[in-house]
Amino acid sequence: MRRRKRPDGAEARSRAGRSRRRGRALRFDQRLLRRGLELAATDRVLELGYDDLETPLLLVSGTVADGVPVPRQVVSLRPTVDLVEELQRHEPTHRGAAAVFAVCLADTIPATDSGSYDVVLLLVPHYLGNERVRTDIATAHRALRPDGVLFFQTHRRQGGETFVRYVTERFGHVELLAIRGGHRLYRASRGPEAPASASDEDEPETVLLQETVRGCTVSLETQAGVFSRRRFDLASRLLAETMEIGPADEVADLGCGAGLLGIVAARLAPQGEVVLLDNRVQTVTLAKRNLRRNGVANATVQLSDGLQAVGRRTFDVIVSNPPLHEGGVYRTTPAERFVAAAAAHLRPRGQLFVVGPRTLPLPRLAAPHFDECEAVAVDRVNVVWRCRRPRSPIHATPDRHSRASGNLADRREKPTEPR
Ligand SMILES: C[S@@+](CC[C@H](N)C(=O)[O-])C[C@H]1O[C@@H](n2cnc3c(N)ncnc32)[C@H](O)[C@@H]1O
Repeated sequence: MRRRKRPDGAEARSRAGRSRRRGRALRFDQRLLRRGLELAATDRVLELGYDDLETPLLLVSGTVADGVPVPRQVVSLRPTVDLVEELQRHEPTHRGAAAVFAVCLADTIPATDSGSYDVVLLLVPHYLGNERVRTDIATAHRALRPDGVLFFQTHRRQGGETFVRYVTERFGHVELLAIRGGHRLYRASRGPEAPASASDEDEPETVLLQETVRGCTVSLETQAGVFSRRRFDLASRLLAETMEIGPADEVADLGCGAGLLGIVAARLAPQGEVVLLDNRVQTVTLAKRNLRRNGVANATVQLSDGLQAVGRRTFDVIVSNPPLHEGGVYRTTPAERFVAAAAAHLRPRGQLFVVGPRTLPLPRLAAPHFDECEAVAVDRVNVVWRCRRPRSPIHATPDRHSRASGNLADRREKPTEPR
């Protein structure tokens, strides 16, 4: 494969200067790409960038660096429905002259795509754990044609050396291309042998957990990359033991993970109905399996950014152990969005049960949306809050959950839900 000659230091520096003059503040890791990424106009590129929404747009707009052409095709995989929608929303304004840009809601490539990419770009998602990264490296290896190239970025203090070891084990040889602060850009070549077909190594290791909650056994299949995969989360357990659910209630489990709260809720409401919602494609697949594993018939799982997928449906009870991180960074904004969305989807006498660490200022987050918010259970670390009297029922206000503002263009297909 023909590869662009790498710029020397002076050329790279002058590019950085031009970029500054154009007023574009590039992040450290983007500057690394600028210095080291090599693409040809004929390349088909697989981009695994997780929460990063800028890098694929740099690729398709041909603005990674001067002299780096727009590749023939860029396929970006994203694991959550909101990331896919956000990327799709920005796509048209950044479309480059030649690149076909496809955004897919998936954790891995389909078997038919094995060996079809010239380049894989992996921005290592250290915050999802080593197993998840190892699985991505296996996916990258399988995706590449013989002699295809993996570019991957890590950070020295975020498991960088471990991930280099994983890539070396898989690819045989890794070359350091550029360093900026703690950030590193590496390249590994696939080698001339034929690419493997889909294998078990692409599938994250599965763990089976079993515990008794409210007098019933709950069995949960979990995987790398899924919340609390080694044991039942103590906060979720506290909420499961505390939440008040009537036998005919309609319940939503917002951010369901592997499905613990939804399964317990479905057993507490044998004449009611439970909807489990999560934005991760991997999690939704697992939660569906877990409903079957536990013989739960009065619950369904939906892929959803917050409560978006339920439309104007309202509930008697909403339960949630909300995410407190975005892209590996601690933030209370996801919890705030969950609370606002829950208020809009509760019936007037409905209740929201939320669990979180004592440090989470839930009463303050809930104040604009609920008339009442009180702690109903505590342990050493966590609190369960009950919020009542929602101020913004769905008929009065639209769902304000989404971090996306504005609608997707009508012509775009909604990401499809995994079976
Ligand atoms: C702290 S975990 C709780 C998982 C599960 N309820 C439990 O107790 O084990 C938060 C969950 O929220 C999901 N999540 C994060 N952002 C979301 C969003 N915007 N919409 C729906 N679910 C989301 C994550 O994928 C994750 O499964």
